[in-house]
Amino acid sequence: MARQISLDGRTFLVAPSLLSADQLNMAESIASLGKKHDWLHVDVMDGHFVPNLSYGSSLVRALRKRYPEEILDVHLMVQPPEDFIEPFIDSDPDFLTVHAEATPHIHRVLGRIKERGIRPGVVLNPGTPVESILPVIHMVDMVLVMSVNPGFGGQSFLPEVTSKVVDLCRVRAARGLSFLVEMDGGIGPSNVLDVVRCGVDVVVMGSAVFGTEDPGRTVEDIRKKVVEGSLK
Ligand code: DX5
Ligand code: ZN
Repeated sequence: MARQISLDGRTFLVAPSLLSADQLNMAESIASLGKKHDWLHVDVMDGHFVPNLSYGSSLVRALRKRYPEEILDVHLMVQPPEDFIEPFIDSDPDFLTVHAEATPHIHRVLGRIKERGIRPGVVLNPGTPVESILPVIHMVDMVLVMSVNPGFGGQSFLPEVTSKVVDLCRVRAARGLSFLVEMDGGIGPSNVLDVVRCGVDVVVMGSAVFGTEDPGRTVEDIRKKVVEGSLK
């Protein structure tokens, strides 16, 4: 199903990562967002591409069934992605993002996701340059810039990756493309304004949202902070 994706006049979108939600009460965690979020970010880890295991496509299927209107942003940290994408496509996410480092066949994988009617995204680890995805950048609806080495929530933000966002925004403008730029890892109230200022459209936040008493209020506060900060 093609749910509409747009910034809706907003400066940026907030995608809380379910990795930091209460794993035994996922529905309660989602309810605690009080519909203040924009998307739900689902981190799929294979214990091989990254040193941690998380979920499979059955979680995405269950989320879609329970929340038909949610924008599901699925971040596949699996290798090789071509072995896993079909069941994830069948589970009807809105975005399926795959790591550039995880396959020699990134063009084929992105093409397959697109062909099946899902928005493809490509992810860059902190050590991977923007140049590596230039040949496929026209194929994607989103580029995800990792601001931690993937595998775990709650890690410290790596500021050196922000220059990639500036480069991506330049490429996007120069080529007349419209992919979104997302950033994931170590983002919270202290650095979200800087992240958005450098050009990020979609901010993933795990522990900074679900690690608080009132995740919905936290998202609201963060949004306010960015909007007010941008006016200064
Ligand atoms: C890291 C994951 C992130 C992570 C973010 O491998 O891709 O989405 O859950 O968590 P925080 O915001 O706690 O760094
Ligand atoms: Zn992620």
